[in-house]
Amino acid sequence: MVFDDLQKQYPLLTTTAAYLEGRCYFFKGVLKQIREINPALDFGEELCNKALELCNRDWNVYLKRVDALIEFSLEFLRLQIELEKTGRYKYATFKEVEEKVYNDSSRVLVGPWYTWALFYSQFFWVTHQRVFKFFIDEFVSSSPASGSVLEVPSGTGLYLTYFLKNKPSWQGVGVDISESAKVFTEDVLRVYDIGSDRCLFVLEDLHTYEPRQKFDRIMCGEFLEHVEDPFAVLSRLHGFLKNDGKFFVTVAVWAAMIDHIYLYRSAEEVRKDLQRAGFEIEKELVQAVFKGKSPESEKTPVNYCAILRKRN
Ligand SMILES: C[S@@+](CC[C@H](N)C(=O)[O-])C[C@H]1O[C@@H](n2cnc3c(N)ncnc32)[C@H](O)[C@@H]1O
Repeated sequence: MVFDDLQKQYPLLTTTAAYLEGRCYFFKGVLKQIREINPALDFGEELCNKALELCNRDWNVYLKRVDALIEFSLEFLRLQIELEKTGRYKYATFKEVEEKVYNDSSRVLVGPWYTWALFYSQFFWVTHQRVFKFFIDEFVSSSPASGSVLEVPSGTGLYLTYFLKNKPSWQGVGVDISESAKVFTEDVLRVYDIGSDRCLFVLEDLHTYEPRQKFDRIMCGEFLEHVEDPFAVLSRLHGFLKNDGKFFVTVAVWAAMIDHIYLYRSAEEVRKDLQRAGFEIEKELVQAVFKGKSPESEKTPVNYCAILRKRN
């Protein structure tokens, strides 16, 4: 097993990795790639420990939630094959996704299961792990001692939680349209001991959300591909940011998930929208999802991530 030599120092991480590898051969390759990137092992062990706590230390429940990551990863591969054939995502409007995905209780990956998959992917997907490290090292660490931070959509709440954990004098707001994301975010904040006095959750559609204040920092992870008009969303978020604020964004490019609506065909298309919305790119991390592919190619799955400021 790829992680076996780490058993002593990282017991839960190693056991989880062995489970993934045993259940799904695809993960053997993924874990090998993770070993090559100087992985954030302390973070991985912590993430697994917090997951176990969220499962009330019930091992069977914990493993079922790891299964969500397997299902999520295989669904991505299946849909990606479709995308390569058709040149488009399965659904093009939020209404379709709402009816055919979010409200379809026969689907394996609805509500909390989808969020659980995202939670584990933060360590067990190469791209997501690198993005999280970039987020901590480049975005959180360079932020001043106090301020206000917004995460939209909060999804798992992990970005918001790690921001607030690293910056104890900051106040946070999380916005998400989904009730299960609300519950998940609040649970994650709790297991990381972030007091409810430090963070407000708003259950709302970003398109109608009106904040009472402007923010020093805004995080927007994997959202633009979920909306019909990402430029309109970027323009809104630009308006929520203070003039000297910073914006952290990640975007899936040419990467099929069942609820992806807006198809970016290249990293360059994302850059153009960001710039058109009034942002200036400070730093980027642009990764091809599959090893050996160029992240600047068109029509190849890419995880685009950047730190931006407002253009003067
Ligand atoms: C792929 S997840 C990303 C979550 C999180 N940023 C992350 O990186 O883990 C997409 C999230 O967008 C939320 N969402 C979709 N449409 C939304 C909308 N119009 N307003 C607010 N949240 C929305 C979903 O509920 C889901 O939690």
